[in-house]
Amino acid sequence: MAFPVVDNDYLSHVDKARRDLRALISSRNCAPIMLRLAWHDAGTYDASTKTGGPNGSIRNEEEYTHGSNSGLKKAIDFCEEVKSKHPKITYADLYQLAGVVAVEVTGGPTIDFVPGRKDSKISPKEGRLPDAKLGAPHLRDIFYRMGLSDQDIVALSGGHTLGRAHPERSGFDGPWTEEPLKFDNSYFVELLKGESEGLLKLPTDRALLDDPKFLHYVELYARDEDVFFKDYAESHKKLSELGFTPRSSGSKIIVKDSTILAQSAVGVAVAAAVVIFSCIYEVRKKMK
Ligand code: HEM
Repeated sequence: MAFPVVDNDYLSHVDKARRDLRALISSRNCAPIMLRLAWHDAGTYDASTKTGGPNGSIRNEEEYTHGSNSGLKKAIDFCEEVKSKHPKITYADLYQLAGVVAVEVTGGPTIDFVPGRKDSKISPKEGRLPDAKLGAPHLRDIFYRMGLSDQDIVALSGGHTLGRAHPERSGFDGPWTEEPLKFDNSYFVELLKGESEGLLKLPTDRALLDDPKFLHYVELYARDEDVFFKDYAESHKKLSELGFTPRSSGSKIIVKDSTILAQSAVGVAVAAAVVIFSCIYEVRKKMK
């Protein structure tokens, strides 16, 4: 599929969709699953073949029925409510916007969002997302394949500050933190505390404590929420833009070249008309 034309009309729909997502996420308390949707659409990226990534392909039945995506159809349906009001916006952009809004409305950092992703109907084969039962080498295999770093792995794992596991979806049960609808650094604080009754730690969460490079960031983020927010916002942006090169940074200034040309042409025409009318006026004045 083609890239969307990110003109002023597209940008205005993105702004409206952002407002609709804020309202929807607040009224349904669905920030965690919206963030998970954004991550699972993006997290299939393979930097060596440039396939997968944030391209909306998770909406294909073939992909949302993958075991790792269990439960995400609910989030896809929520997004469809917004898509029906703003059909111009690609699914790829909409899912990533939903992830960004989910973090913001739960008190997390503001994440720069640049629209313009194109949709794909091609779904990657099952098995590109991490397996929660494995350890640090597996996390590296998966995230390095996307082109992400050790720091990104730890910062993004902080996404588990939101939400919970559901036995019928993943076989795991419970939230990671005491306030699963608040985005803060408590995931790292709880991780360092060790086992707490009622709180979950996946094997992949525990792996962050066993590896010295990962542990360095866990300790840093538990100590300093501001650093976590800053790093999380950067890593999340990277995740949301895997395989996508924005035409320009900052959503406000992406305007299609043809629009700029058209606007310039109108400007020149108006200026020319003003000059011509002033000349005619001057000539007439002299003739009187
Ligand atoms: C590091 C590797 C990761 C593994 C192995 C993993 C695994 C899981 C599992 C097993 C669940 C429970 C699903 C359920 O039962 O409903 C879950 C939930 C969740 N994950 Fe991850 N995840 C990883 C990384 C991430 C990342 C990078 C993010 C976002 C930046 C994220 C965001 C979430 C959220 C928000 C939920 C809660 C969903 C809900 O409450 O419905 N995860 N994850």
